[in-house]
Amino acid sequence: MNYKGVIFDLDGVICFTDKYHYQAWKKMADDIGVYFDEKINNRLRGVSRMASLDIILERSEKLYTQVEKDILADQKNELYKKLLHQMTPADLSDEVKSTMDELKNRGCRLALGSSSKNAKLILERLGLGEYFDAVSDGTNITHSKPNPEVFLKAAEFLDLDPKDCLVVEDAIAGIDAALAGGFHSAGIGEAAVHEKVDYSLHTFADLLSI
Ligand code: BG6
Ligand code: MG
Repeated sequence: MNYKGVIFDLDGVICFTDKYHYQAWKKMADDIGVYFDEKINNRLRGVSRMASLDIILERSEKLYTQVEKDILADQKNELYKKLLHQMTPADLSDEVKSTMDELKNRGCRLALGSSSKNAKLILERLGLGEYFDAVSDGTNITHSKPNPEVFLKAAEFLDLDPKDCLVVEDAIAGIDAALAGGFHSAGIGEAAVHEKVDYSLHTFADLLSI
């Protein structure tokens, strides 16, 4: 690994909170009678809460005011947070933890780069509250992925140049953000087939071969 820093996305990379996002959005969409499925859910990866809601409401006949949208987003988030409380350190896979530990042993500095405003709660649930050298999340940005802000902040918190950092992402929007910020990127899941990704990972542990 020739990178001084590695910046990890959270949802879909370190843990699988994407299923809880889906359940919570699905309940909200059902309540207001708007069609929502896993395919639409895939478009929400890496996208902020309010931008996600706008994508879901593309299928709505009714136009919602900002106040109504804030209420819907709050309802979704309350249910999502309830689901997050089911998580324990057992939801962190051995592969993810041992790979990150090995990167640390090799002298890499590790950061989180997540659009989520719940990132710190999730890290606590996973037992990673104090683990990362820096945490950049939805609470310190104004533009979500594909804007590079969340990763640029992570690099700044690590005191490293983007060119010295590798971004690890599962979302197309996340790889676009890494590219826009001048980072190299490693894609897992659907992001592994992004045409401009630098490294395609089959498993998380493949990071150790870069
Ligand atoms: C990202 C997820 O990590 O966080 C998105 O991939 C989600 O699906 C976004 O919308 C915002 O999350 P939160 O927890 O602030 O609603
Ligand atoms: Mg993700």
